[in-house]
Amino acid sequence: MTILAIESSCDETSAAILSDGQMLSNVIATQLIHEQYGGVVPELASRAHQQHILPVVERALSDAKVAKTDLSAIAFTRGPGLLGSLLVGTSFAKAMALGLAIPLIEVNHMQAHVLAHFIEDPKPAFPFLCLTVSGGHTQIIRVDGPLDMVVIGQTQDDAVGEAFDKSAKLLGLPYPGGPLIDKYARDGNPLAYRFPMGDMPELNFSFSGIKTAILYFLRDNTKANPDFIAQHLPDICASIQHTLVQMLLTKLKRAARETGIREIAIAGGVSANSGLRTALTTLGTELVWNVYIPRFEYCTDNAAMIAIAARFKYEQGEFTPQTVSPIPRMSF
Ligand code: KG4
Ligand code: ZN
Repeated sequence: MTILAIESSCDETSAAILSDGQMLSNVIATQLIHEQYGGVVPELASRAHQQHILPVVERALSDAKVAKTDLSAIAFTRGPGLLGSLLVGTSFAKAMALGLAIPLIEVNHMQAHVLAHFIEDPKPAFPFLCLTVSGGHTQIIRVDGPLDMVVIGQTQDDAVGEAFDKSAKLLGLPYPGGPLIDKYARDGNPLAYRFPMGDMPELNFSFSGIKTAILYFLRDNTKANPDFIAQHLPDICASIQHTLVQMLLTKLKRAARETGIREIAIAGGVSANSGLRTALTTLGTELVWNVYIPRFEYCTDNAAMIAIAARFKYEQGEFTPQTVSPIPRMSF
């Protein structure tokens, strides 16, 4: 069984080939055009996907040394994501599947982030909890089976990735700022400044308050000292990162306590954050959890995770009709 998977939900055009359990290629073209605008511009993203998709798919096939005629199915991200971006991947997958007369498999992008843990060992055992943290989502998911997941907590406003990116923007850093906060935080003191963590009920999150707190904190300090940011960038980044990571881990601890589950995974772009990875590993040792952290290339958007999710669907015989269209706000 050989699957070609296509991911185009946001600003990464990606294609991967999974053949008999082996991920033979995972090609990712990142759109750099958005940097100058300080965020993803949906129309530019759609156009860039149009330009990249054929070369990316051809490269994935050639890296894997697989011919189009060897493919058993074509998988694609149906949602959630930007409509224009999803349409490019969906239409391409439909046309190619039609041309080759092979089945189509739709994949939910957030489910795929969770299933990225099944690309390679060690794989979590069911049931496990997955903290899925990206630019668009912040969820705690109870995963009872490969295609059997329930969201047990989520953000009520901004995603944690957005909190990283918006904080970075306030510091004058380019988009996406999350990785840059991570980089500067390495040389800073995480306890230099304190920001409010808020108090959301149950397993829910809110990240809009901390963004406003950072805005006022920077405004007050730069009024007193115009060079405040430049002089204290590592301490500011470390303190912001520490606060965001603690907010995530507080709810994850609660979820583990309430469900009694000790198999704990993280997924999504923000799981590339070194502060989160280190803090989770330490917490896991302390609370005797089995912690699963994906390799960096499988944290941010990629088609390998779409391919692995599609394999589970292929095994269940879950195929998608040619009349399918994307769902930008797709839930589980
Ligand atoms: O999963 P992803 O690639 O795309 C979405 O589906 O949203 O996640 C992108 C998000 C962005 O907000 C980006 O700033 C954040 O992940 N991110 C990070 C790091 N690497 C990526 N945030 C903090 N630290 C990082 N190292
Ligand atoms: Zn994503």
